[in-house]
Amino acid sequence: MKAGESGQTRSPATDCVLRAENVTRRYERGRAGPIRARKSEGFEAVHGVDLSVHAGETVGLVGRSGSGKSTLARLMLGLEEPDSGKATWRGRDIAHLDRDSTLAFRREVQVVFQDPYGSLNPRHTVGKALQEVISFHRDAAGAEAQRSVRDLLSLVGLPPESARSYPHEFSGGQRQRIAIARALAVEPGLIVADEPVSALDVSVQAQILNLLIDLRERFDMALLLIAHDLSVVRHLASRVAVMHDGRIVEHGPASDVLSAPRHPATRELLAFASTRGRSFP
Ligand SMILES: Nc1ncnc2c1ncn2[C@@H]1O[C@H](COP(=O)(O)OP(=O)(O)OP(=O)(O)O)[C@@H](O)[C@H]1O
Ligand SMILES: [Mg+2]
Repeated sequence: MKAGESGQTRSPATDCVLRAENVTRRYERGRAGPIRARKSEGFEAVHGVDLSVHAGETVGLVGRSGSGKSTLARLMLGLEEPDSGKATWRGRDIAHLDRDSTLAFRREVQVVFQDPYGSLNPRHTVGKALQEVISFHRDAAGAEAQRSVRDLLSLVGLPPESARSYPHEFSGGQRQRIAIARALAVEPGLIVADEPVSALDVSVQAQILNLLIDLRERFDMALLLIAHDLSVVRHLASRVAVMHDGRIVEHGPASDVLSAPRHPATRELLAFASTRGRSFP
């Protein structure tokens, strides 16, 4: 059973895994320009945003570079605290979880970043990296953990002998598969994937997106898929939220947002996706 599910009947309240409630995040920014104008001036990277992800659903969060997507993700993951508003996990304020709940939260909600290299320890073999997670969260060791490592590698399409190799011995796409395997190791209920394919070649992007589709269906996971490229989310997301200058400017069923965009920022993203002539997967 996945963390957070305790056999109770699903209701809208328990179904909501992660939610941002009117969150705002302000950063200080030194202003470039003439010396007299160069005073520290705050700006809001995220302003009054609401976004929720329910069990089993895929939400696409799109917006041009710098619109605040990753900042919002960090707020929802509890990696940063909002200046106002709150992020909740199953209805509880992430900023005030006790130790046990923090562990359950960290287990249920996993993250995959654009650059898996940065989050994989270069001195650990892939097998060791996966075993660590398995031992910590699942209390499995020895032969059982090794079997789990092999199963995880096979799930993400890598041969079992990959366990003996180090991160630098893999291609970018293979490293992203390893990062996904590590996220899966704890049987998460939700994966937050922040630009998981934007550093990869187009053909490899499609493979990784296909893998995410397959895994999401197989494990009934929720997915918050973040991308600046609408073509990445269009076939995966049932709901799409468009960010622009720190705000969500359009939000609705993917079919509506994509077929009848209302906001200029959405139209711009759609035009960009279509001029590239790409369609995933
Ligand atoms: N730690 C920080 N300190 C100061 N400013 C920041 C910080 N993190 C992000 N910003 C700024 O906040 C804004 C939003 O950044 P963010 O990384 O959330 O955008 P994004 O939509 O994820 O962009 P991309 O598509 O390029 O990943 C940007 O102007 C960025 O420079
Ligand atoms: Mg980002």
